[in-house]
Amino acid sequence: MALVSMNEFLPKAKANKFAVGQFNMNNLEFAQAIVEAAMELKSPFIYGVSEGALKYMGIEFTVAIAEAAAKKSGLPIALHLDHGSSFEVAMKCIRAGFSSVMFDGSHYSFEENIRLTKEVVKAARAMGVSVEGELGTIGGVEDDISVDEEHANLAKPEEAIRFYEETGVDCLAIAVGTAHGMYAGEPNIHFDIIEQVSKAIPVPVVLHGGSGVPDEMIRKSIAAGVGKINVNTENQVACTETIRAALNKDAKIYDPRKYLTPARNAMVEVVKSKIQLFGSSNQA
Ligand code: 13P
Repeated sequence: MALVSMNEFLPKAKANKFAVGQFNMNNLEFAQAIVEAAMELKSPFIYGVSEGALKYMGIEFTVAIAEAAAKKSGLPIALHLDHGSSFEVAMKCIRAGFSSVMFDGSHYSFEENIRLTKEVVKAARAMGVSVEGELGTIGGVEDDISVDEEHANLAKPEEAIRFYEETGVDCLAIAVGTAHGMYAGEPNIHFDIIEQVSKAIPVPVVLHGGSGVPDEMIRKSIAAGVGKINVNTENQVACTETIRAALNKDAKIYDPRKYLTPARNAMVEVVKSKIQLFGSSNQA
């Protein structure tokens, strides 16, 4: 199967109240772990690729790995640019074979965010590529993007609704209290904002910062209208902790396969537990 746009599965997720996971791809082992977990549970999923990860892996390798996963698994898989910062980078990804892009104009003024997102939607739609927009600022650190708590601001429901109406995005990330990276305590998620926006627009709300959110809050978010959830940090932690333990246990290891195999297995378990929690098993 070829890579698909998020519209292959997001409308079904919204209608049937489940969420599709965006699992970020940082290297080959991440990609393999994610697709292995999804194959076991027959789940659609989204490979998220940040600009930093794109630089690290190279665009050709990124697309080739995602295409290989789609071909091997037969699952509906979207290859999605995460937090795209410009029209140019979105178009570069689409030309290279991405089936979905996020344009994150949340640091621009509201009107400018609408204007720029509309341009991306117009071009992407002509090529059958789905688009995610963002409103409000999500806190935490992701790659080179760092937003402290003070500057993270929640989305205003009436603005989010107007943003959807004007741009026609396929899903909408709104800042509702989650953050990228791990939480010191528990996040304070504003379920009322999710519900108000989700009821008023036909596309799902996206929850960024899905790592470390207690299961019950994830279930409540999905019930309120979240249809896509992003997870990266929990896989990074599982991968690195496993490698650290393997190296600490045996200082003589030099074959990367000896520590990357258990690291990959640890990520398979993380992704499987998220897919089960999100309710996307058997939805492929
Ligand atoms: P986490 O850092 O919580 O895994 O969130 C990832 C994310 O939202 C990517 O856009």
